[in-house]
Amino acid sequence: MTGLNELLPPPKAATRTIGSHTARQLLALCELAGLDRRESAAYTRAVNAALGPVADRSLDLPPGTPSFLSDDHTPVEFSLSFSADRAPTLRVLFEPASGFGTPAESSRLALRALHGLAGHWGISTEQLDTVTDLFLPDEPQGAFSLWIALELLPGGTPRMKAYLNPAANGAAHAEHTVRAALRRLGHHHADSDLPEGDQLLFLALDLGDWPEPRLKIYTTHHGLTPAAAGTLGRMPGGPGPAELESFLRTAAGTTPDTNPRLTLRPVQTCHGYTDTTGVPSAFTAYVPVRDYARHDGEVLDRAVVLLDRYGIDPSGLRNALGALTPRPLEDGVGLISYLALAHQHGRAPRITAYLSSEAYRVRPPNVR
Ligand code: TRP
Repeated sequence: MTGLNELLPPPKAATRTIGSHTARQLLALCELAGLDRRESAAYTRAVNAALGPVADRSLDLPPGTPSFLSDDHTPVEFSLSFSADRAPTLRVLFEPASGFGTPAESSRLALRALHGLAGHWGISTEQLDTVTDLFLPDEPQGAFSLWIALELLPGGTPRMKAYLNPAANGAAHAEHTVRAALRRLGHHHADSDLPEGDQLLFLALDLGDWPEPRLKIYTTHHGLTPAAAGTLGRMPGGPGPAELESFLRTAAGTTPDTNPRLTLRPVQTCHGYTDTTGVPSAFTAYVPVRDYARHDGEVLDRAVVLLDRYGIDPSGLRNALGALTPRPLEDGVGLISYLALAHQHGRAPRITAYLSSEAYRVRPPNVR
């Protein structure tokens, strides 16, 4: 039987590179997700091409830039989104041109990579083009400028998401930048009523063939308690306070008799808008589980409880972890970086696990 890896060009000499390491992981995840071999190879090649020069960087060298995308600075992260009513979807998030040249140069190269991918798959970038100048100024600031996520659907054409940095013109201008973008995109109501939070982290745009393309606003909640989380969602028909609190408690491993502040790394929420009424049609809560557990074995146990609660078979997640790394789960923490609960109008709730490549480093277990 021909393995997926045979469809890729052989790695040069025996050097492990970011590209070869993440390509092998992506191919293995694609296979688990039931994608066709040729499609999987094409997706993997496309991600590698979009990564640009960083794909060929040897893993014997330190990361070229302290990418904010993942804890060990690998510019690629995977995620699997599970729901009771359909097969899991595999997604890959990456930072094109990570660390190439100056921030201005890498942001230009990243934008070119996005247009290259979009052109290849016939995906319209109109929404993004409307706000590009706001988020990719001549001298971009902040921890990143453009990330791309692909939902790797069967059929050979992915759905694309672009992640933009509200702090591109300085953190002090983040709110102004987001409001300007909302107005340009016709979201006047959302502009007058931004979601709660202490920091605007991302503005994301769905590009391509989505049934209902969303504009998404991500905010952080430093020191949030599970009980206070209950009221953060503004989506009608979204998770009720009890459901949200219980998700946070399970993911963060808090006991029912305590209501601790989650101070180690903030919980995040995302509101998604599909129309211009200002009423969100999607809401997601993200718990950075890696800071609230001793090791990945513990995180997986919590994920299994959550998947079970939503009627989802956990074997897909177990297999995915095994496909990413042979290391015992107890030997590190952060292979699962976030667990998220996503609600979207008209769909069953989803549990999403964000999965690290660990190309550079495994974070040792947390001592408590
Ligand atoms: N690494 C960053 C963080 O941990 C950004 C990030 C990557 C992120 N994947 C994510 C944030 C998934 C929320 C959910 O915050």
